[in-house]
Amino acid sequence: MKLFIDTANVDQVAEIASWGVLDGVTTNPSLVAKEGNDFKETVMKMCEYVPCVSAQVTATEFEEMKKQADEYSSWHEHVTVKVPMTIEGLKTLNYCREKNITTNTTLIFSVNQAILAAKAGANYISPFIGRLDDAGQDGMELIKEIMEVWSNYDFDTEVIVASTRHPRHIVESAKKGAHICTVPYGVFTKFPSHTLTTMGLDRFLKDWENVQKA
Ligand code: G3P
Repeated sequence: MKLFIDTANVDQVAEIASWGVLDGVTTNPSLVAKEGNDFKETVMKMCEYVPCVSAQVTATEFEEMKKQADEYSSWHEHVTVKVPMTIEGLKTLNYCREKNITTNTTLIFSVNQAILAAKAGANYISPFIGRLDDAGQDGMELIKEIMEVWSNYDFDTEVIVASTRHPRHIVESAKKGAHICTVPYGVFTKFPSHTLTTMGLDRFLKDWENVQKA
């Protein structure tokens, strides 16, 4: 399973990359706006750390989306062009497939959308599970259904579980065979800790200290 970080903060990318566990980054316009830094510069810096950085188009019409896809993909070979799940987005995916531009389809909330995006040529699709949970649905059920469908066919499209909110989302995604989880920094930093690990290490170090004193 691959782990991506969902952020537009380069320091966060650098930190998790230093753990040796990071396979990619997903950004979106909200995350970029929150950081307030230049978009292109941010994406280019992130591309130095990982082989896959999603940069989302902000146009909504095919002609403009195409132009943004061409531009972003020219920045760095590690850029993946992120396209929203709309009819114009499907046309853009098809265009990018022809131009060999790597794509990630965002805002996937149903299996039908997942199938369409895959058929239009998306390299990745991003179902948003946390937002489904927020709406009173079961986000993880969508991942289960998508992975069931994927096991029936030979789609090359990889599934990025997005809008993850807690470590259990990642465990459940892995059990269902999702290819990738994109995880916010605050969730990533919860992974390494366990109370018993902390207590165990504390005990090891105290015992060692006592032997040195004896
Ligand atoms: O990658 C998608 C993600 O940024 C959306 O997360 O927490 O805004 O639903 P969230």
